[in-house]
Amino acid sequence: MARYEITGARPLSGEVTISGAKNAAVAILPAAILVRGKCRVENVPDISDVRILLNILQDIGAVVTREAPGTIVLDCTNITETCPNAELVRKMRASYYLMGALMGRFGKANVALPGGCNFASRPIDQHIKGFRLLGADVEETEDYVNLKTGTEGLRGNRISLDVVSVGATVNIIMAATLIPGQTVIENAAKEPHIVDLANFLNTMGANISGAGTDTVKIRGVESLQGGTYAIIPDQIEAGTYLAAVAATGGNVLVKNVIPKHMDCITSKLQEMGVNIINYDDSIRIRSQGRLSCCTVKTHPYPGFPTDMQAQICVCMALADGVSRLTENVYETRFFGYCTELQEMGAEIMINGKTAMVTGHEKLYGAEVSAHDLRAGAALIIAGLAAEGKTVVCNAHFVERGYENIVQKLKDLGAQIVRMED
Ligand code: UD1
Repeated sequence: MARYEITGARPLSGEVTISGAKNAAVAILPAAILVRGKCRVENVPDISDVRILLNILQDIGAVVTREAPGTIVLDCTNITETCPNAELVRKMRASYYLMGALMGRFGKANVALPGGCNFASRPIDQHIKGFRLLGADVEETEDYVNLKTGTEGLRGNRISLDVVSVGATVNIIMAATLIPGQTVIENAAKEPHIVDLANFLNTMGANISGAGTDTVKIRGVESLQGGTYAIIPDQIEAGTYLAAVAATGGNVLVKNVIPKHMDCITSKLQEMGVNIINYDDSIRIRSQGRLSCCTVKTHPYPGFPTDMQAQICVCMALADGVSRLTENVYETRFFGYCTELQEMGAEIMINGKTAMVTGHEKLYGAEVSAHDLRAGAALIIAGLAAEGKTVVCNAHFVERGYENIVQKLKDLGAQIVRMED
């Protein structure tokens, strides 16, 4: 198992270029199943979740060609298999998008239940509710979800989600794109990657409107054809580098971002005393002296993202005063990293869905373990800010979602190496 070894307490400086968005890529690549023709997808991050997904797609008959770094041509025209390899499917969370994509194209799918980051119980009842309302017969076993076209066929419908779910919104969009009639998703998620998925599908000929609002309308079309599409920059990767600079101090230009997507994160960093300048597609961050404490509550977009909870917690652990961090999406998420941060000297008291974080001037190096992707990113930030040496075990979690993180941090002056056991 790989680990990162970090010698901390050094400010970061220079420039970092953000990769394509993981959560958009893991939706857009399976959505190519709906397309007959070649999809040329640019700005695809080279991360392990994407590599697993491409293996799954190849395994069911897609032709995958790497044209250049970050550019992948996917041709799913000749796919016939609707039961993807269970072992591969269990390696990642977003493989549940194969349900919507395969059902949307073939009217049936038999997909193993996904694996991935288990920082909380992650039900998929809203996905299933959506499939059923579109006319599917859904049979759930302990390990599989088996979807078939019901006796009355698949047709558009009105689907009101009981919780705002990114995954259910994506899956229903994919399932509804090629079926007759209009589907309306109410209480839809509004994350930037939902808009990116809709833009991708529309580029290929779909008729989807309202993505980015809480009502998404999908008018079924007969077919989609190939085309070229570039994935948006990763909001959470960018936020992670911003939090790293806030925690260590320094002056960094974060390039290839959509500043609007970052407002929910940069506004909190500004409250903590960090200087932020937005340009068209980059953000300059300057952080000097002690951060101030603040209050953060996670919410679906455009709220503060749960995927930034752990990283902002590290900033709070170093801030002056007592910060309050409330998790509204995945209540058990604190347990993935708070014990580790405490070993590094952080003072965190968890009470239900709120953590009270009493800031200290310093954190101290320790050997800690990542238990999920974002927890791992937070421990790296803590290691960069801490006095002495930090070892972050379970690097594979981080590599699910951060392209080239070691080199990017080294380019900013960090002392970090990746070691294999
Ligand atoms: C996506 C992101 C993940 C992020 C999360 C919340 C991808 C690939 N992953 O995960 O990085 O942490 O959004 O922003 O985009 N829920 C239900 N029933 C369902 C579905 C969800 O109760 O059928 C609940 C969940 O338990 C959670 C909340 O709804 O409390 C939001 O989950 P959801 O938006 O679906 O998260 P994911 O799509 O799995």
